Amino acid sequence: MDLDKRNNGKNDFLPLKGIDHLEFYVGNAKQSSVYYQYVMGFKLTAYSGLETGNKNSSKYLLEQGKIRFVLTSPLQNEGEIPEHIKLHGDGVKDIAFEVDDSEKSFIESTKRGAVPVLKPTEFSDENGKIIKSSIKTYGDTIHSFIERKNYKGIFLPGFIQPGSRSIENIESVGLRSIDHIVGNVELGYMNDWIKFYGETMGFSQLISFDDKDISTEYTALMSKVMQNGTGKIKFPINEPAKGKKKSQIEEYIDFYKSAGVQHIALTSANILETVEALNRRGILFLSVPESYYETLEDRIGKIDEDIPKLKKLNILVDKDEDGYLLQIFSKPVQDRPTLFFEVIQRKGARSFGKGNFKALFEAIEREQDLRGTL
Ligand code: FE2
Repeated sequence: MDLDKRNNGKNDFLPLKGIDHLEFYVGNAKQSSVYYQYVMGFKLTAYSGLETGNKNSSKYLLEQGKIRFVLTSPLQNEGEIPEHIKLHGDGVKDIAFEVDDSEKSFIESTKRGAVPVLKPTEFSDENGKIIKSSIKTYGDTIHSFIERKNYKGIFLPGFIQPGSRSIENIESVGLRSIDHIVGNVELGYMNDWIKFYGETMGFSQLISFDDKDISTEYTALMSKVMQNGTGKIKFPINEPAKGKKKSQIEEYIDFYKSAGVQHIALTSANILETVEALNRRGILFLSVPESYYETLEDRIGKIDEDIPKLKKLNILVDKDEDGYLLQIFSKPVQDRPTLFFEVIQRKGARSFGKGNFKALFEAIEREQDLRGTL
């Protein structure tokens, strides 16, 4: 494992203010929006669809803390959205960034080789205007650059208050922000995408893991973590490595039919409460053997949390030179074994839970075995 120094945003040709939102293409956004509200504690805060003059798609904006997810479903049978869903199932389409200058972001990235998807385009309504442009990343996933400094509306032009579509009195589960978003890419392509984020997007490499760091008796993968100039945005990229059995990355690609977003890590300020609430509402998490907790204190030292409680909830702990972190991984959140969520609480640690990789991947292998895809 190598831990590189961040460049502190110096000479950043593509300054990103943060992740603006993630857009998912899903088969039935109306029903998915209820899952994100009831089960995951998001609030439905804006809507766009037939009632707003959008004849092509319906869109639901869900918010919790600083996290913004847009669920989009097609209203027609032809076009880019239904094609995407037919091929990939439900999944992340757009990792959209907020920027000060969408046109400059588009020019700086495309002149370094990014493939354009949408040229800088103005969208407006009575609340002002935004400028949006987009480029391709791995698989059919895209990055949009959203310039919203001249917009005062609730989200983006065309969105209205959700009214009675929003379920009343939904309590947050305490999710706060996006910690990192992981992409799975095909065998042999990890370094190309590391180069893309480095040379085209101005990111730098934070950490790399090889198959010796991330392997079990049966399967292996390799991973490198890229971060933007401010260190706020972190994108690990995984590729499968040779093992005795099928890597979870290969399983993902078999079902997603291309590279794509594997998991989204969301932060909590109190992971015990968050995981308890998510369990109660119906999220299924991966479980680890009891033996993991028997040696925990020897590995990690003293921590603030009660170990029997962590064990009951299957929460994992790891440490690095800066502190420790607590994390847990959900099972896939759609029928295809593709996207899942991680909940993470950082207590100083900046790393990604290397000490948990083995326990985690063995847990995933047990699930793969049940699916007949190991
Ligand atoms: Fe993660």
